[in-house]
Amino acid sequence: MTDKRKVRKAVFPVAGLGTRFLPATKSVPKEMLTVVDKPIIQYVVDEALEAGIEHFVFVTGRNKHVIEDYFDIHFELQQTLRERSKKAEMTILAEQLPKAGTVSFTRQQEPLGLGHAVWCAREIVGNEPFALLLPDMIMRGEPGCMRGMIDLYAQSGGNIIAVEECAPDQAHKYGIVGVGETVGDGFRITSMVEKPARGTAPSNFFINGRYILQPEIFSILEDQERGAGNEIQLTDAMLKLLKSQDFAGYVFRGETYDCGAKDGFILANVAFALERDDIRPHVEAQFKALVQGLK
Ligand code: G1P
Repeated sequence: MTDKRKVRKAVFPVAGLGTRFLPATKSVPKEMLTVVDKPIIQYVVDEALEAGIEHFVFVTGRNKHVIEDYFDIHFELQQTLRERSKKAEMTILAEQLPKAGTVSFTRQQEPLGLGHAVWCAREIVGNEPFALLLPDMIMRGEPGCMRGMIDLYAQSGGNIIAVEECAPDQAHKYGIVGVGETVGDGFRITSMVEKPARGTAPSNFFINGRYILQPEIFSILEDQERGAGNEIQLTDAMLKLLKSQDFAGYVFRGETYDCGAKDGFILANVAFALERDDIRPHVEAQFKALVQGLK
């Protein structure tokens, strides 16, 4: 029977070194770089919250303490804001703080790949389905990507992978899925390949970094050998699970900003700034002038 148990927990692999953003990421984790005035990780946690996730599991690494601090109370700051009657700022902090006991941290001690990072969360997740959100990607959509996936999961159960279409010459950068018959609002996934060689991708639907997975993935990851890039790949383990469980593809139709890359990060900043009533009137004309000046 296809497993449809409630998805309560979400895993966020945040152990990456962020080498594409050096020197900034020498001392600041890439997940803490700001898009307008919130760190990237906050957007991703908000997406999970909107989807009804109750427990947040961070797989961290060395030099990531500030992520733990960020999700904790800052007594001194709160005290100072209170003394100065900074009510709006106090509300921002109160809204951002997760409920006590709903956040867990574990460490990936070695950078062995995404599959290994997910496996590091096995004891905290336990024997239940879970969401996985790669924090490089910020998604903007109504509903949010994970919300839409949870809705599809309610129909189909099993495992869900969010996908989007890419230009064929970009497929070698991603995990790519093979497309089968329609399932609810999605489609059955027939195959998967991580970073296919040019011209060999089974489709142009790439895995965008959002997953709902059944816990059987952990025992497969336990023995998973290294794959593309000499890393333990989640996609390879999912391909093995596909032999015994169903995977559905959820086509996300909102916007995705790959904040692991400089262009995506800059675009996210511009897009979210233009959505804000307190910022848009001050920057819109300058943005236009900057772009026109380039012509
Ligand atoms: C990872 C996944 C890949 C997915 C991508 C999305 O790759 O392994 O399947 O398409 O995230 O960003 P990475 O970006 O870590 O190389």
